[in-house]
Amino acid sequence: MSLIEDCPVASGQAILPARITELLDQAPAARADVLRERLNTEFPVLQDRLARLYDCHDNFSDWLSQVVAQAVKLALSRPNDLWALDMQRASQPNWHLNGSLGYCAYVDKFAGNLSGVRQRIPHLQELGVTYLHLLPFLKPGTPPNDGGFAVASYDEVDPALGNNHDLQTLTQELRAAGISLCSDFVLNHVSHEHEWALKARGGDAHHQSYFHWAKTPEDVAAHEKNLIQIFPNTAPGNFTFIPEVKAWAWTTFYPYQWDLNYTQPDVFAEMAQSLLQLANLGVEAFRLDSTGFLWKRPGTNCMNQPEVHWILQAMRSLTNIAAPGVLLKAEAIMPTQDLPPYFGLGETQGPECHVAYHSSLMSASWVALAEENTQIIQDVLSHTPALPDGCAWMTYVRCHDDIGWNVLRPEVDARGADQRARLLHASQFFAGDVAGSYAQGAAFQASDPTVVHGTNGMAAALVGLTSAQTPAEQEAAKSRLVMMQALSLFVGGLPLIYMGDEWGQGNTSAQEIAQRQGPDGRELHRPIFDEHSFANRHDESTMQGQIYAALRAFIQAKKQHSSLSATHPLSVWHTGTSAVLGLKRGSHVLGLFNFSGQPQTLSPTPGITQNCMTHGTDLISGKALDLQGLQLAPYSAIWLKK
Ligand code: GLC
Repeated sequence: MSLIEDCPVASGQAILPARITELLDQAPAARADVLRERLNTEFPVLQDRLARLYDCHDNFSDWLSQVVAQAVKLALSRPNDLWALDMQRASQPNWHLNGSLGYCAYVDKFAGNLSGVRQRIPHLQELGVTYLHLLPFLKPGTPPNDGGFAVASYDEVDPALGNNHDLQTLTQELRAAGISLCSDFVLNHVSHEHEWALKARGGDAHHQSYFHWAKTPEDVAAHEKNLIQIFPNTAPGNFTFIPEVKAWAWTTFYPYQWDLNYTQPDVFAEMAQSLLQLANLGVEAFRLDSTGFLWKRPGTNCMNQPEVHWILQAMRSLTNIAAPGVLLKAEAIMPTQDLPPYFGLGETQGPECHVAYHSSLMSASWVALAEENTQIIQDVLSHTPALPDGCAWMTYVRCHDDIGWNVLRPEVDARGADQRARLLHASQFFAGDVAGSYAQGAAFQASDPTVVHGTNGMAAALVGLTSAQTPAEQEAAKSRLVMMQALSLFVGGLPLIYMGDEWGQGNTSAQEIAQRQGPDGRELHRPIFDEHSFANRHDESTMQGQIYAALRAFIQAKKQHSSLSATHPLSVWHTGTSAVLGLKRGSHVLGLFNFSGQPQTLSPTPGITQNCMTHGTDLISGKALDLQGLQLAPYSAIWLKK
């Protein structure tokens, strides 16, 4: 019997289950009134999305009312400061788009532990950071654990980094400094040491249903036919035999990361609860890891299935009830054309994530650098939709993962059957395997030199800073690094700086890598924060100081001029040379990015509508510039305002 059908209680327009109205009737009036209003909007959404996923299960209505009750209880126990923040943000949907700047770091490498991160707040403030993504800090499985992406408990901080109290203290101090803490939330899989996996191994049928199993080698082979390989060298295949269960667990990533089965409603309910509990500890944003893989549909590649979006929209709806000030960020490293649904655009309409990585733009910028030609960036931007209010692209130059080239397949394929070779060229270029390459990166997960996968390396190594022998080479490398960052800052609603890139830290040393657990090529760009070089950041006679100053000038310009905000539409401005990318923000601001090692002279076509801007003031130097015939230095970035 369904509670909804049997005990309808009207609250505004939504009919809420009795369990919820009782909870609200007993709660303090001020919160209860706000929650009734939120539920009016959100309950019908939740009911719809979760019914699509789980209506075929017994007692769906009772289960749904429990899920909502859980969110309501967490909303009622939400600390006052966070409740107040929710209220403030609810009235400003674009609160996270004004002069936002992200920073991303591993806790241990950046600062030792969570308390150490508090000592880094002045640096983050000086840089202008408003959003700090700390890579996984929840209790992981025993190493190797994919840098913490194999989580053993979602409810506890990794004891090596601190405890839940330290997390709460850190979030409070960050908030006081105007910085929102973002935590990874690994939705797709858990560590094989997570309690659910241990119970499943022990024969508990209920917990076995939290995972996907293939019973025979034939089942495995039938699935594998359609699936991609994430780590073809170090973790080939998508299944791992578990002797105790006498079956193969679905393990898209490493064998110790068991994919969760979201057809089991308890998986959804438990994950949602953990997320909202972390929000109550002060986490203000969640990076929803590997979202594309959440739903398996036999016979498909099991990526980006419609159900993924119903799961995410239901998560968003629960967040809107219990912690509406919290941001959800999709980590869906997919071609641009697959990303709009993560913002709730397209067939699976509805509010979903606020932010998503623009990985195609990131990879395309590196290809453009290798080719000294910006065509591929323009192709990617032509596939990039305008976003709904309150949504933003996260742009970045580097992050903790490899640069994946295959996200660009749609763009290169559209240019011709022979164009895939451009991706292979980029990967060889950044591995330093092409004549004339300055890069010191390394190919990732590709032992076959004719296959493209990813590229590892810190930005400074990829732009040639660490290989530069002469002052001219150093100058060129520095310009490349700053230009790439300036592009990310120009395009992004939420641009992200990866730890160390603000002053040009190089790759992890071979000696350090040798001490790390498990072979993972991505360790190349996961160095320990170099205090010594960092100390030079204010000294402009050093390379670190020059990079830091140049980057900060662009960051400050972005913060000072609201016309640079991502709320104004972005369009391509035709520079007359494919070596230079021209981008307009609204009608008053222009960004020019010279991807070539040669000076370039602009010859814009005034007849093109977007090109009607003819002159402007350089936002960094303050000089007045005429666009016709303007000379751009090699690898330079110029931002102008009419
Ligand atoms: C995400 C993370 C990556 C990790 C993978 C599996 O893609 O960014 O580092 O290996 O998820 O959790």
